[in-house]
Amino acid sequence: MTASAAGQGNGHPDLSVSFADVQIKNPVIAASGTFGYGVEFEDVVHLNKLGGFVVKGLSREPMIGNPPPRLWETAAGMLNAIGLQNIGAQAFLEEKMPHLRQMKDIVVFANVFGYTREDYEQTIEILNEGEGIAAYELNVSCPNTASGGLQFGSDPRSLDEIVTTAKRVARRPLIVKLSPNVTSIAQMAYVAQEAGADALSLVNTFVAMAIDAETRKPRIANVTAGLSGPAIKPIALRMVYDAAHAVRIPVIGMGGISTAVDVIEFMLAGATAVQIGTASYWDPCATEKIVDELQDWCIEHGITRIAELTGGMQLE
Ligand SMILES: Cc1cc2nc3c(=O)[nH]c(=O)nc-3n(C[C@H](O)[C@H](O)[C@H](O)COP(=O)(O)O)c2cc1C
Repeated sequence: MTASAAGQGNGHPDLSVSFADVQIKNPVIAASGTFGYGVEFEDVVHLNKLGGFVVKGLSREPMIGNPPPRLWETAAGMLNAIGLQNIGAQAFLEEKMPHLRQMKDIVVFANVFGYTREDYEQTIEILNEGEGIAAYELNVSCPNTASGGLQFGSDPRSLDEIVTTAKRVARRPLIVKLSPNVTSIAQMAYVAQEAGADALSLVNTFVAMAIDAETRKPRIANVTAGLSGPAIKPIALRMVYDAAHAVRIPVIGMGGISTAVDVIEFMLAGATAVQIGTASYWDPCATEKIVDELQDWCIEHGITRIAELTGGMQLE
């Protein structure tokens, strides 16, 4: 029985959505970097109640990340400069995936990043050998070290090159995660689509910073960091709206979502599904609670099929 059929005829709204050949039971996905490798959350969240989860960004080699302090709470948000610490793609397949594969009815997305084109290529090739991954999410927000530090995701030509390369090697659907640190998100969305992306996800964090006025030191050792959480929600919503109107492929929205109503807003702006990141820092059960709230919201509002909300914002 499909997830869609499961939601019909029993009084429950059908929360299932699909994108890039992946069907998930509801639109709520835990965002990369805020949900570990999933296994860390299995005692607090019923992983099979979520639409899915995206694991920490994986690279070709293990990475230790940036020195502390790496996190700082801001008004309605959070700064982080974790520096993409991770165990590496091969260790992920050997140490985490076997356990995840034993869990029934969960959907795992692998987030991939690199500093050169070859990094992306080789990381995907490693992950191609593993089983149980639904799709790849390409993080293009890292500085391209081969081009002197310019972000892949901020330069249309680099984005085109990296997505074309990833699509050529990937044996799974490719979701391209866009950086919000650009002038035109619509342009970047279009470039990613034309280079072969099966879906887009956005937004990653906004480059930001905080200073301690007493010590005159930066709050984060790396000086600059990524801002996430409710503080970015209205900008993220606008970017999802702009991106969704520039492409034909599905868009997964995120940025500051912490309630079911936030999810509905992102879907009305054009998102097929959503991701939830920082909210899991305030409340580790946030993702699962939002799924329950979403079901209640749909019942209260007479929504029988949540997928129909996508792009449903009304101007009049
Ligand atoms: C601590 C932390 C680590 C993150 N690590 C990653 C990562 O490894 N890869 C990635 O694509 N995004 C990463 N992100 C970005 C989130 O997945 C998400 O795009 C962003 O935080 C906006 O959503 P939110 O406001 O719900 O947190 C990270 C975010 C945070 C807060």
